[in-house]
Amino acid sequence: MAVIRSVIKGVGAYLPKRRMTNDDLSKIVDTTDEWIVERTGIRARHIAAEGERTSDLGYAAARKALERSGLEPRDIDLVICATATPDRTFPATAVRIQHMLGIEHGAAFDVQAVCSGFVFGLATADNFLKAGQFKRALVVGAETFSRILDWQDRTTCVLFGDGAGAVVLEAQAQTGTREDRGILATRIRSDGRYEDLLYVDGGPGSTRTTGHLRMNGREVFRHAVNKIYGVIEETLHETGYTADEIDLFVPHQANARILDGIAKKLKVSPEKIVMTLSQQGNTSAASIPLALNEAWEQGRVKENGLVLMEAMGGGFTWGAVLARW
Ligand code: ACO
Repeated sequence: MAVIRSVIKGVGAYLPKRRMTNDDLSKIVDTTDEWIVERTGIRARHIAAEGERTSDLGYAAARKALERSGLEPRDIDLVICATATPDRTFPATAVRIQHMLGIEHGAAFDVQAVCSGFVFGLATADNFLKAGQFKRALVVGAETFSRILDWQDRTTCVLFGDGAGAVVLEAQAQTGTREDRGILATRIRSDGRYEDLLYVDGGPGSTRTTGHLRMNGREVFRHAVNKIYGVIEETLHETGYTADEIDLFVPHQANARILDGIAKKLKVSPEKIVMTLSQQGNTSAASIPLALNEAWEQGRVKENGLVLMEAMGGGFTWGAVLARW
């Protein structure tokens, strides 16, 4: 039976110029390169320049994704930006990116699911495309987490970085089998009982301030592997694939130990896993498209390859996407 699928037409990314190593961080807080590498796998991260906004990062990534898709901004009728660090409380950063691209038709809005934002954004765009409401979507993950970090808190400021990535999706008629190209299955979940384990202690509706990121790292860690594994299993079950049929595993880059835990449970071989964490840190909603972009640039994303993406973040929110390139 013919169905509409959201086919990935192109990917792009952008990292701010300034690179901050663990040694640079050790001059700001009481930490060492050794501690950070051993506990997280992170060696360096990028930090947005003064005046460089989340929308600037997202726009640069979006331009690259469009260029590689062979499409023009006018071809896009839906722009979704996944971010927890918007330029302003409102309007949405997606609307600014839409404007920077010169798009005046269609719709643009932000998705707020923190580190799971890109997965939530893909799932949202996919449903709009499958419903026939839009034809081509730009899904951007863009963050300036450096602006919400407490730079005196060594337990959190060493983990995150800034950056952006984007993909272009196009609605295409496919056969309705699991051999189709495009997004084959998505799962998104959330559970607010875990709010206090990972949050920002400010906001316009509560403190009237922006606030800083707070996290109970141990507890987040404890939940991450099982929750992520659960949604991955559901996408595999829905499509009838097994983990060893995955060609490329593109996880949210939170922590090398979490990634190892998931990879071991899934039994995915190491050469299929995309790891950008060591040079980028955790860039929240930007980490999956940044990793996808790096894999694409290295020639690791093959035509018709089965790609698995997953994430978990504040809320908690978590989710997975299975797609054929
Ligand atoms: N440098 C040096 N020492 C540090 C640092 C640091 N940057 N941070 C904490 N420490 C110290 C602590 O003070 C503590 O010292 P103490 O024993 O004297 O009290 C010691 O190191 C151990 O601290 P823990 O918090 O128990 O360290 P843990 O092994 O749990 O590692 C970490 C912390 C890396 C945050 C870990 O819990 C983790 O990875 N959690 C997952 C959280 C995560 O990845 N979050 C990302 C956002 S959510 C997401 O994207 C999924």
